[in-house]
Amino acid sequence: MSLKDAYSNYFKMGVAVNPIDILLPPAKALIKKEYNSITCENNMKPMFILDDEVNLADPAKYDLEPAVTFDNCKVFLDFAKKNNIPMRGHTLGWHNQTPLWFFHEGYDESKPLASRETMIARLQNYIKAVFEYINANYPNLIYAWDVFNEIVDEGSFRKSIWLDTIGEDFFIFAFEAARKYSLPGTQLFYNDYETAEPWKRDFICEKVLAPLMERGLVDGMGMQSHLTMDHPDLELYKFALEKYGALGLIIHATELDIHNADPSDESMQALADRYAELFSIYVDAKKNGTANVECVTFWNLLDEESWLTGFRKERSYPLLFWKGGQPKKAYQSVIDVASK
Ligand code: GLA
Repeated sequence: MSLKDAYSNYFKMGVAVNPIDILLPPAKALIKKEYNSITCENNMKPMFILDDEVNLADPAKYDLEPAVTFDNCKVFLDFAKKNNIPMRGHTLGWHNQTPLWFFHEGYDESKPLASRETMIARLQNYIKAVFEYINANYPNLIYAWDVFNEIVDEGSFRKSIWLDTIGEDFFIFAFEAARKYSLPGTQLFYNDYETAEPWKRDFICEKVLAPLMERGLVDGMGMQSHLTMDHPDLELYKFALEKYGALGLIIHATELDIHNADPSDESMQALADRYAELFSIYVDAKKNGTANVECVTFWNLLDEESWLTGFRKERSYPLLFWKGGQPKKAYQSVIDVASK
């Protein structure tokens, strides 16, 4: 049994991978056995694809058409292609992990921010260049893309450099380019965290998804799903899932983990129970037709490589595997939900 087999009637089971996973044979074997979707944890973000050296060496030449490189993510693309594992692309646009020079005149941080027109051209041509490379070299490998990540905060558009340079319609330009340059059938997602919070959920539906849907530019909603043991309330999570589902969009849980800093048996059983409750919500929504969940991606393979340990400043045990790849109680509880 494996996660992907257990859930084959429901949705894909995915995992975020880092460069070490792709090099170590035991990690590679675990990915191949358990998962049928992979996301690069970092290496497809703009800071890894925008070619610093080339752009900065001749800023005038690349001013509106930024140069890109796939040297930092080729190993992931090749692994996925060789093993027939579909990929999620993450992420074309983001305010984080994008070099600051990208937003300035002449790609020079000491100069003022570039104009709206310049930034729209850079954004759209960046996306065009990504798809030209992917379509030519890995056609149909990446089935879904996060086109923009985390543009909402505290019930409004996030104050970000994208907002400062282009204005509130910046994300529309990104989705427009993604639709135009991706191969037909490629699913385009909006992705965000805390998507169950009412102040975020409703703003996303009204101000992000609705305008994109009117223009036929979005296919899916990505609920990141970085949870803790008591947040969010899963009733609220279910409500949000169904609210996004009712829009007729595909739903992906894109970055699932449940922070838990206590590795005792009791605590790991509680983690297993919370995972079971969450997966019952996904499965029931799928069965009842209240949300078309098509993929659930865990954010990292093993507890020992979870980003949460750094982020929360305490050792976290949030996933289904630990100790180099041993399944935890949560692994079995997630499998059991599918076979009920
Ligand atoms: C956010 C981003 C991810 C990743 C995580 C932390 O959720 O979307 O790409 O950076 O934070 O690992």
